[in-house]
Amino acid sequence: MKLESGIQQPGFLLALRFLALVLWSFPGARALDNGLAMTPTMGWLHWERFMCNVDCQEEPDSCISEKLFMQMAELMDSDGWKDVGYEYLCIDDCWMAPKRDSKGRLQADPKRFPGGIQGLANYVHSKGLKLGIYADVGNKTCAGFPGSFGYYDIDAQTFADWGVDLLKFDGCHCDSMEHLENGYKHMSLALNRTGRSIVYSCEWPLYMWPFRKPNYTEIRQYCNHWRNFDDVYDSWQSIKNILDWTSSNQKRIVDVAGPGGWNDPDMLVIGNFGLSWDQQVTQMALWAIMAAPLLMSNDLRHISPQAKALLQDKDVIAINQDPVGKQGYRLRKEDNIEVWERPLSDLAWAVAMVNLQEIGGPRFYTISIASLGQGMACIPDCIITQLLPAKRKLGFYQWTSDLKIQINPTGTVLLRLAAN
Ligand code: GLA
Repeated sequence: MKLESGIQQPGFLLALRFLALVLWSFPGARALDNGLAMTPTMGWLHWERFMCNVDCQEEPDSCISEKLFMQMAELMDSDGWKDVGYEYLCIDDCWMAPKRDSKGRLQADPKRFPGGIQGLANYVHSKGLKLGIYADVGNKTCAGFPGSFGYYDIDAQTFADWGVDLLKFDGCHCDSMEHLENGYKHMSLALNRTGRSIVYSCEWPLYMWPFRKPNYTEIRQYCNHWRNFDDVYDSWQSIKNILDWTSSNQKRIVDVAGPGGWNDPDMLVIGNFGLSWDQQVTQMALWAIMAAPLLMSNDLRHISPQAKALLQDKDVIAINQDPVGKQGYRLRKEDNIEVWERPLSDLAWAVAMVNLQEIGGPRFYTISIASLGQGMACIPDCIITQLLPAKRKLGFYQWTSDLKIQINPTGTVLLRLAAN
């Protein structure tokens, strides 16, 4: 039921709005003190799309080589990615030569990276972008390349000397929990000691969960973001699993996220093969709600205009990058519809409604506005804009009104509720 503008609003509702502002302004846990990732990191990461393809003879266009990264850097600059915030171009596993050099330093595979990582970093910086690299806290990387155990200080310094701006630190091949925890901490301090600003992306909790519950307050003091759950695949099942894990564990992980430290549900696979249009909308909307790092893993040389527009949607990116930095959560699940919400700055809210029913057509869902945002999303009234699957002004709503929307199977409707 829409409300005509101009109706008088009771003062106590405005007072409630003020109270909400105070309540939501409470600072989260202390973050890693490197001044980085004040909003979730945005960029591109090679793993999901290109994996460990080292055969440049047979597959010169998709093997892990400096050429691949230079092409992506060029496109990030020329095709509008950088302009909307995608800044970090990140190398994952399989960039290394099988052995360290005579001084114990990691080295890039000389055939695939003839200019070395420093050369690539210079190129990436010349495009106004930043370079991310990958290493592992254990004895070997997940794909079997040299691990950093015993070399944390040397590796941190090497990355800083090369001009690297982000380190994804994996957790394969660790001998013990102590090794894992101490290793992640040691590398964090070693990176700080280099004096270079290097975003530190961890997988510490993911590798810890099978043994014991991670201490997120501590992890946040060392890492700028941290993976909690399995690797994302290019499939709807994988996206569903990640969302399920996140909502099941939200009591533990949501409050700890904030400027400087974020939960990382893994890469965006939008623009690849496995997700339908509606499922891609769901990933984009929910990654915005979850305040997730937006690291695309796709081929920017071959991407549909539709996927590109979705990934470059400024309104959705603005939700993801909201400066208050509060992660959203699942509010309810009923009859195969999930409602998620996220508090934003200026007392606005983002609300996502996902239709998980995989039979039948689009479904109508009616929600009472008063149930959103702990009752505060629309006090005494608000303007609602649908952002996804397409931008549409829904208009002026009163706290007491209902909102009826239609959601495609496996799709999501993303809304922004803002003060009038
Ligand atoms: C692990 C990580 C992935 C990727 C691969 C590389 O599985 O979780 O994100 O980095 O290793 O081998």
